[in-house]
Amino acid sequence: MRDDAGVLVVGGGYLGSAIARLVGPSVTVVRRDATPRPTRPLPAGARLVGLDLSTGEPEDVRRAFAHLAAERPVVATLARPQGSDARFYPIAARRLAEALPDHTTRLVWISSTSACPDVDGPVDEHTTGPVGPRGRMQRAAEEAVRTICSHRGIPWVIVRLGGLYGPSRPIGGWWTRRGPGAVVPGHGWIATNLVHLADAARIVLAAAREPRAEGRTLLAVAPDHTPRRLAYARAACARGEPPPRFEAPIPTDRRVRGKRVDGSHTATLLKYRFLHPVHAYGLR
Ligand SMILES: NC(=O)c1ccc[n+]([C@@H]2O[C@H](COP(=O)([O-])OP(=O)(O)OC[C@H]3O[C@@H](n4cnc5c(N)ncnc54)[C@H](OP(=O)(O)O)[C@@H]3O)[C@@H](O)[C@H]2O)c1
Repeated sequence: MRDDAGVLVVGGGYLGSAIARLVGPSVTVVRRDATPRPTRPLPAGARLVGLDLSTGEPEDVRRAFAHLAAERPVVATLARPQGSDARFYPIAARRLAEALPDHTTRLVWISSTSACPDVDGPVDEHTTGPVGPRGRMQRAAEEAVRTICSHRGIPWVIVRLGGLYGPSRPIGGWWTRRGPGAVVPGHGWIATNLVHLADAARIVLAAAREPRAEGRTLLAVAPDHTPRRLAYARAACARGEPPPRFEAPIPTDRRVRGKRVDGSHTATLLKYRFLHPVHAYGLR
């Protein structure tokens, strides 16, 4: 993407700030408030706007976006703040899609692979089936984006991201933070569906630019599906830590369980080559 493309990034957290750094000085970033975050640096010259999508009056939000979003792509990387309404995603999606000005060139809504059906086996963008409560919230948000943007004539793309990891968010880091005695629930012989931050940010920007992505639901997941138990052990080893303990033994048939999200069609459509097709361990 050209540096002067002027993307508007709504949500400047782990992923949003990485996208902003790729876009460069022409980027505008919306966070709940405009306080700079040292751990989520933005490029020099970036514009940072404080605007709370959930609590702001709809008319104020609309007025703010009238100036921010006209004639440029909008990338929404909002994540539910701790303690907020469980319906955060559908509420934020609806508010954003309604607030964007008519001339927004594209809304890229970041969803999650939790919206992919909970099947025991391969899943791609066409697989249908039921999901759990988290997936239902993500699907409700996606549906709000599709319906409102289609009705308003705003081009949209949905990108379902796998588990994000990278600098400061190592694989299995949530487990390590619980302390050395923590036991990971289950047997962990489950396919991983991860994506490195650097790949996620590039895939999202490619989705904002590629004409054939319009009106599609894409999957940003690396091709490596190493079972969680093994991936956590390798990450711990790379950090010089003992492997985690799992609650249950590996199933005797050693068949890897869980959904395996196939991101290959998205990579082909976007002509994207992963920087980290294989999980990168040892990141801090
Ligand atoms: N992390 C994962 O493993 C994972 C996996 C799959 C999908 N995803 C998706 O990836 C996206 C980004 O995740 P992340 O890890 O980058 O999240 P994050 O670091 O928590 O950042 C979320 C950003 O959203 C902003 N935000 C939250 N509520 C807002 C509101 N009401 N109004 C305006 N801004 C608001 C936050 O603002 P403040 O900076 O002011 O707090 C923050 O900048 C999310 O859509 C998430 O669902 C993540």
